[in-house]
Amino acid sequence: MCGIVGYVGDKESAPILVSGLKKLEYRGYDSAGVAVVSRNTLNVVRATGKLRNLENRVSQEEPKGTIGIGHTRWATHGRPSDENAHPHSYKGVAVVHNGIIENHLALKAELRARGHHFSSETDTEVFAHLISDELDSGRDLPEAVRQAIKQVKGTYALAVVCSSDPNRIVCTKDASPMVLGLGEGQNFVASDVPALLEHTRDIVYMEEGDLAVVTAQGVALYNRQGQLVNRPTRRIDWTPMMAEKGGHKHFMHKEIWEQPRAVADTLRGRMLLSEGDVHFEGWSLSPEKVRALSKVTILACGTSWHSGIAGKHMIESLARIPVEVELASEFRYRDPIVDSTHLAIAISQSGETADTLAAFKEAKGRGATAMAICNVMGSAMTREADISVLTNAGPEIGVASTKAFTTQLVTLYMLAVKLGRMRGTLTVQQAQEHLTRLTEVPKMIEEVLKCETSVKRVARDFMSSQDFLFLGRGPMHPVALEGALKLKEISYIHAEGYAGGEMKHGPIALIDEKMPVVVIAPKQPHVAYEKIIGNIEEVRARGGKVIAIIDEDDTHVASLADDVIRIPPACALLAPVVATIPLQLLAYHVAEMRGNDVDQPRNLAKSVTVE
Ligand code: M6R
Repeated sequence: MCGIVGYVGDKESAPILVSGLKKLEYRGYDSAGVAVVSRNTLNVVRATGKLRNLENRVSQEEPKGTIGIGHTRWATHGRPSDENAHPHSYKGVAVVHNGIIENHLALKAELRARGHHFSSETDTEVFAHLISDELDSGRDLPEAVRQAIKQVKGTYALAVVCSSDPNRIVCTKDASPMVLGLGEGQNFVASDVPALLEHTRDIVYMEEGDLAVVTAQGVALYNRQGQLVNRPTRRIDWTPMMAEKGGHKHFMHKEIWEQPRAVADTLRGRMLLSEGDVHFEGWSLSPEKVRALSKVTILACGTSWHSGIAGKHMIESLARIPVEVELASEFRYRDPIVDSTHLAIAISQSGETADTLAAFKEAKGRGATAMAICNVMGSAMTREADISVLTNAGPEIGVASTKAFTTQLVTLYMLAVKLGRMRGTLTVQQAQEHLTRLTEVPKMIEEVLKCETSVKRVARDFMSSQDFLFLGRGPMHPVALEGALKLKEISYIHAEGYAGGEMKHGPIALIDEKMPVVVIAPKQPHVAYEKIIGNIEEVRARGGKVIAIIDEDDTHVASLADDVIRIPPACALLAPVVATIPLQLLAYHVAEMRGNDVDQPRNLAKSVTVE
């Protein structure tokens, strides 16, 4: 997830681009840049870090030109740095890109063989080289872009300017968003509407495969087949804040609904289905090293710790390595037993959580191989790690973690499959079956999001409760913990998550007719379905109210529960991804109905960088 802007008109473009990028900073903020064209000269200005660094450079260098493109980056390939910041340019062609080019390594190898040199670690730079080659072979800019994208596998929203064709921006998109803004004697391109509202409210949404040629006078839009097409112009009456949230009332709600896309991005380019394997960029563990692993230690806090518990089920079951899941804040103050046969995995959305970072350093210092599963490339944990695996969820703004959690779960599942293949605990065919299930997850999340109406009804019935209990067994235990954490952090209702079997060892004393108990009960043996039904009976016998998360076709639990929320059936190890989503929505709607500040709940910070 990155932000793109483009401007062509009669004004200086650089200040317009920087001001548009400010509205898109929520899409990424590890570096930014602009490329402007004036009298057949391309000027590129880039800076690592927040947008103000670019703003300072632009005000010092004052790049001139009434046409230009800009970008704010969320790193996926290549650490945050000036060299990896967009725009990327080659022989007068400058490109900005949002998306992932899956075959960039193969394309780079081909281009290098033809004498090209690359100046960044990014996948994006190949676009500048491919387009430049097409221009050299006599094509005009739109055709050069069209031919270049034919060679690329992956997702993109791409905007291109060129010093030899200085009056037009060419942009195209597939699976990443891109809109056009229509003005008088000036026109605009952007990843999202907020970047444009200052200048125009007349917006054209590009469709998959569209290519647009944008000049100061107008926009020509072509479909994938190269035919000229008309797309409707929509008048947007959102406020800038509403636009940033994509029409959702809160970032948390937007991020919950983004999960099909976020999970698809996590999987993208990594599933080697025919080989029954997983590709992680920068993977450096040899098969011998993996076979010699005696233990995996997962280090994390909060929601990331919950995903670690689900990860334990996945790795132990598929790769047969013992896994310990440690609260980072406890691990660092013990005298933990760690040696060079251990793999320490830090899981963190931000990559900056102080306790996780300190525990990670401790484990690495004692000889463990250090792997970071992070959403933020270039964060402290990815810098500390021997291997980093990005979750690719895009920036998460709401303090309550949602898409960070589900993308961590699918990353851990891929890791379990990869380790299983390397250790020989999974055959090619078994790995293929697991990977096929993973490919179905984005669709399943789309399905489960349809439960929002029933969740809202439950939220209305229980919004005034003082306490909640969440129960789950096996892989549903971390889901219970996560459901309780979500509810308490944004609704301020006291909530406890418990393994179902533990209920009779204490929490059962709390149950009375005022206590809602959320039971996560998909129908699987691993989840001890029969036993969780036992829990439901125990709650009912004490007058407690049962809200059950059940498979679509479950009639038995439905007959016992006071309320049910139905989810599509998933295999036991992937069911946590699907089952968590109704609980995110429940917490969201309860908090919203209670009038709380959902995105910035009291006393909490998005990233806890202090002990
Ligand atoms: O950035 P991290 O994943 O390391 O953050 C860890 C926790 O602080 C975080 O998950 C926290 O529990 C969230 N507010 C949960 O929604």
